[in-house]
Amino acid sequence: MPPPRKGKTTWRQYDVIVIGSGPGRRTWPPSAARSWVVKTACVEGRETLGGTCLNVGCIPSKALLHASHQLHEAEENFAKMGLKGKAPTVDWKQMLSYKEDVIGQNTKGIEFLFKKNKIDWLKGWGSIPEAGKVKVGDETYETKNIIVATGSEASSVPGAEVEIDEKIVVTSTGALELGKIPKKMVVIGAGVIGLEMGSVYSRLGTEVEVIEFLDKITPTMDQEVSRNFQRLLGKQGLNFTMGAAVSKVETTKTKAKITYKLRKDDSEHTTEADVVLVATGRKPFTDGLGLEALGIETTKGGQVKTDGHWATSVKGIYAIGDAIEGPMLAHKAEDEGMACAEVIAGKAGHVNYNVIPSVIYTHPEVAAVGATEQELKEAGKAYKVGKFSFMGNGRAKANFAGDGFVKILADKETDRILGAHIIGPAAGDLIHEICVGMEFGAAAEDIALTCHAHPTYSEAVREAALACGDGPIHS
Ligand code: NAI
Repeated sequence: MPPPRKGKTTWRQYDVIVIGSGPGRRTWPPSAARSWVVKTACVEGRETLGGTCLNVGCIPSKALLHASHQLHEAEENFAKMGLKGKAPTVDWKQMLSYKEDVIGQNTKGIEFLFKKNKIDWLKGWGSIPEAGKVKVGDETYETKNIIVATGSEASSVPGAEVEIDEKIVVTSTGALELGKIPKKMVVIGAGVIGLEMGSVYSRLGTEVEVIEFLDKITPTMDQEVSRNFQRLLGKQGLNFTMGAAVSKVETTKTKAKITYKLRKDDSEHTTEADVVLVATGRKPFTDGLGLEALGIETTKGGQVKTDGHWATSVKGIYAIGDAIEGPMLAHKAEDEGMACAEVIAGKAGHVNYNVIPSVIYTHPEVAAVGATEQELKEAGKAYKVGKFSFMGNGRAKANFAGDGFVKILADKETDRILGAHIIGPAAGDLIHEICVGMEFGAAAEDIALTCHAHPTYSEAVREAALACGDGPIHS
C-alpha cells in the first residue's frame, strides 16, 4: 500500500484517475481515498456528475415511473378505497421539472461527496495518450493508475435503416424529455428500457406498441416470469408484436413509419407512431479514449478486455462497468469499482458475479438473481422449485398487488439456493434477502426457518422457501 502523501503538491500528479463519473466512480474514489490516502481525480465531460445512471438513466426513469404509477393508482384504485374525486390530470412540464429536480439533488450530492473526500473533478472529456497519462482539454495529468469507467451508449437497430434524432426517433435519453406525451409510441425491443419507458407512457395515456425480434420479452429472464410479465403488461394496455425484425424507420416532421418483417413467414408490415423508442441494447462507450493506439485489447463485442482483476492488457490501466463484459448494471459497475480500488491498493478485491441481482422497475416489479430454470436444465442440474403467489399474501391483497409470485430454485440434494425470480410488489427489494442468503451459501430451509414479520410482502419469499421443502403455510 502506498504511504500517505506528505507536503504540498500541485496535484498535477495523481495516484488514480478514474475516467467517467457514473456508478463505477460512485464509491470508487472515496473508498480508494479512504483506504490509501491517495490523490484521486475523476474525469467527467458532462455538465454534472453521475454519468448515465443519474443524468439520463436509472434515476430519472424511476422518477417518471413513480409519478406515472401514482396516476395509475389514482385512476384504478383510489375509488375502491373510498377516495373519491376526479383523478389528477397530467401537467407534463411539471412532471419533467420534478424529474429534473430529482436529477439535480443526486448529481449535486455527488459533487458534495467529491469535495468532502478531496477528489478532484477534471472537467472535460478525457483520453489516454500513454500509460500513466490522462489528457483533459489542453492539460495532461500524470497518474500511477487509470480506471476506464466510461460506461455505455445506446446502440442502433442491428441491420436496419434507423436514424436517431432524439425527437421522433429516440433512445432512452430522448424518451426522458419528450416535448409532449405522444399519442402513439412504438418501442423497438422488449428489453428493460423498452418495457420501463413503455410502461411510463402507457400509464400517461399513450398507445404503446412493442416490437420484439424474439418470441419472448426480456429474453434472458426465467421463462415462466417472462410469460407472466408479458401477460400482465398486456393487461395494462401494452401491445406486443413478437418475432418481428424492424428493417426501416422513416420520418416526416411529426411522424414515423416503421417497417418490420415477421420472422415466421417473412411477411412485411408497417405501423405508424408519433415517437419511436429504440431500445435494442447498449454498447461500450470508449470512443476518443485512444484505447486502440495504446494496444488495449477488446472483445468481439467491443468491450475492453480485462483479467479477473479488472486489469487491461496495458499495465496500470484498468476498466470496469458497462465498458467491460457482463451485465450492464449500475450496481455491477459500483461493485467492480470498489473491488478494483482494493486490487490497486494491493488487497483482495472480489466481485461475486453469481450474485448480481437484476430488477425491472415496472409495476409489478421484476427481480432475479442466480440461475434461471432453463439454465439449470441446460446444465443438467437436479433442482427443486418452491413457488408462492402474491395472491396468498395478505399485505399484497390489501394493496391491490396480488399479481405475481416468488420462485426459488434450490439444489435437489443439498437444498442450497441456486436462484430466485420474483414478479410482484417490491420485488426489487425482496430479492436482496435471497442475495444475502446466497452469499452465505444458504439453503432454502434457512430462509424458511427465519421469522418474517407479518404482514409483509417478504412473507411470500419465506413461503416460496417453505415450498422448496414441506410446502408453504398458506396453501
Ligand atoms: P436489452 O438488451 O435489455 O433488450 C433489447 C431487446 O431488443 C432484446 O429483447 C432484443 O431481442 C431486442 N431487439 C434487438 N434487435 C431488435 C430488432 N431489430 N427488432 C426488434 N427487437 C430487437 O436492451 P435495453 O432495454 O436497450 O437495455 C440496455 C441495457 O441497459 C441492458 O443491459 C439493461 O440491463 C440496462 N438497463 C438496466 C436497467 C435496470 O436495471 N432496471 C434499466 C435500463 C437499462
